[in-house]
Amino acid sequence: MATVLAIETSCDETAVAIVKNREVLSSTIASQIPIHRQYGGVVPEVASRQHVETINDGIAEAFQEAGIGWAEIDGIGATCAPGLVGALLVGLSAAKTLAIVHQKPFIGVHHLEGHIYASYLLAPDLEPPFLCLLVSGGHTSLIYVKDCGIYETLGETRDDAAGEAFDKVARLLQLSYPGGPMIDKLAREGNPKAFPLPEGKISLPSGGYHPYDSSFSGLKTAVLRLVKKLEQSGEKPLPVNDIAASFQDTVARSLTRKTIACALDYGLSTIAVGGGVAANSGLRQHLQTAAESHNLRVIFPSLKFCTDNAAMIACAGADHLERGHTSSLTLGVRSRLAITDVMQLYS
Ligand code: KG4
Ligand code: ZN
Repeated sequence: MATVLAIETSCDETAVAIVKNREVLSSTIASQIPIHRQYGGVVPEVASRQHVETINDGIAEAFQEAGIGWAEIDGIGATCAPGLVGALLVGLSAAKTLAIVHQKPFIGVHHLEGHIYASYLLAPDLEPPFLCLLVSGGHTSLIYVKDCGIYETLGETRDDAAGEAFDKVARLLQLSYPGGPMIDKLAREGNPKAFPLPEGKISLPSGGYHPYDSSFSGLKTAVLRLVKKLEQSGEKPLPVNDIAASFQDTVARSLTRKTIACALDYGLSTIAVGGGVAANSGLRQHLQTAAESHNLRVIFPSLKFCTDNAAMIACAGADHLERGHTSSLTLGVRSRLAITDVMQLYS
């Protein structure tokens, strides 16, 4: 059972965690959200500087919380792709330095593989094969999890990611960043049937629609048109709760339909959900109900491990380490890297 310390700095959270196999010994997160909120989104340069300022405290705190020392650490992991290059570099450089100083193996971790591994923290009995619905700020994918490091992408978004759609709709409703949690909160007070909105569908040249790919930009435009129409008709204040609920319900229904169809078509009886949008109450409700009616198991990580954290990175790193997958100290960061190329990170 490998004990791994991992660092996650791919975006606006400086996170450090220590995980023993699938058990979280400590998990610290210094969120930069209040800093970026004033700009309405993440400013990469500000994020990098902030990571530099908080990383050392995070490492010290992670050890303190875990109550262990360097002797018990078997390896050091860090997110190396995909993400903001300057931000990733801070965590990767820190992890490599620690690996050299303490003479421990170094494990570069793919951020999205981390989101998949968040489900193992909640359900340590989980084993591949299973289907992962990965819904974050930058990605919306249906991934066939075959084994550690072995993935096949079955569906993707053709335009905006699910989290991005939440953030953009929140912005046009003049809600603060990040938009997902705000929409989720308002939607609880709204009527999801108030405004019928179109589910994005991808047409196939052969006719019909792509069963697993998504599109959210048309839905975002439909919300924009709805807001303009309501404003022109003099509706004040805007029924933001109903708009949020109708939007959220449309996204949740669309993702649920595709995920269930995919699981059934591929004969996968377990669905793990990962990424920030996995925290969404509408998605949780729709997918849970649909999965139950088809006798499928669905795993939603606990809320704190849906959004970015280092425990999921350490968990993925520990699994790779156990299999002898370690990275070269010359490994660099990558702003983009397909989940199907994860094994490129290991020598
Ligand atoms: O996984 P994550 O923390 O970062 C990325 O890897 O992108 O996901 C962040 C995204 C943001 O777009 C945020 O608005 C969205 O997840 N999000 C939510 C909720 N909590 C976070 N979207 C909908 N409902 C939520 N409760
Ligand atoms: Zn993420």
